[in-house]
Amino acid sequence: MFFQKKTEALSIDTSRLPKHIAIIMDGNGRWAAKRALPRQAGHKAGAEAFERLITDAKEMGIEHITVYAFSTENWKRSQEEISAIMDLMRYYLKNSFQRFLKDNVRMHIIGDISRLDEDIQNQIREVEEKSKAKNGMTVHIALNYGGRDELRRGIQQIAEKAANGLSPLEISEELIEAHLDTAGVPDPELVIRTSGETRISNFLLWQIAYSEFYFTDVLWPDFGKKDLEKAIYYYQNRERRFGGR
Ligand code: IPE
Ligand code: IPE
Ligand code: MG
Repeated sequence: MFFQKKTEALSIDTSRLPKHIAIIMDGNGRWAAKRALPRQAGHKAGAEAFERLITDAKEMGIEHITVYAFSTENWKRSQEEISAIMDLMRYYLKNSFQRFLKDNVRMHIIGDISRLDEDIQNQIREVEEKSKAKNGMTVHIALNYGGRDELRRGIQQIAEKAANGLSPLEISEELIEAHLDTAGVPDPELVIRTSGETRISNFLLWQIAYSEFYFTDVLWPDFGKKDLEKAIYYYQNRERRFGGR
């Protein structure tokens, strides 16, 4: 099903890169615990790894990166940890994201932002507004995101349309796709999860129907360019069948 290749020299075929890589950035807490640091320190290191990843992926020519930053389930964590993550988000919206924008990167937030603090929501709207003029790589940040919640919100909109005359027979896969946060974005060919966990944790449930999965024991803050290359190498050595033979 999945495994980590112990290959030394990885030859990546740059003509067959995945267009969209989705990443479950997991293991920040364990990274901090290993160093006897507070969990927040792990999130800070994780945010730095994210920044490096965007630079590397952009250089490689990846078109879309989606990262899971905060799930609809992460509200179960302590207030202290949630505040630290939200403060990091504030910092990134004002600093790194602005730098990405200058580099022609489009920033797009997926998830239900209405539950976030007003100042963060405003900052997100500003960043997305500025992104409209960009045509480089797109970075999708999943924030208060849950795959089930995304489907629920999409279904709600479709039901609204049905109540106003849309025929149930018109509900196609394309119509559902158009009501997701990722409308118009190609499905991820490759999903990466760090830290040794091998579950989806409510990430992109609809979009991963035919994704390849790469799991690695590396903790997210330690994830670097070599790891990204390993994941892409793994992906390129899969035979994708899509139900055919
Ligand atoms: C991932 O790291 C970041 C978020 C979920 C916000 P974790 O905080 O889940 O790290 P572990 O799993 O406890 O090591
Ligand atoms: C998934 O990681 C969510 C993010 C990386 C933001 P979690 O650490 O929250 O997932 P579980 O609890 O291990 O399933
Ligand atoms: Mg975790």
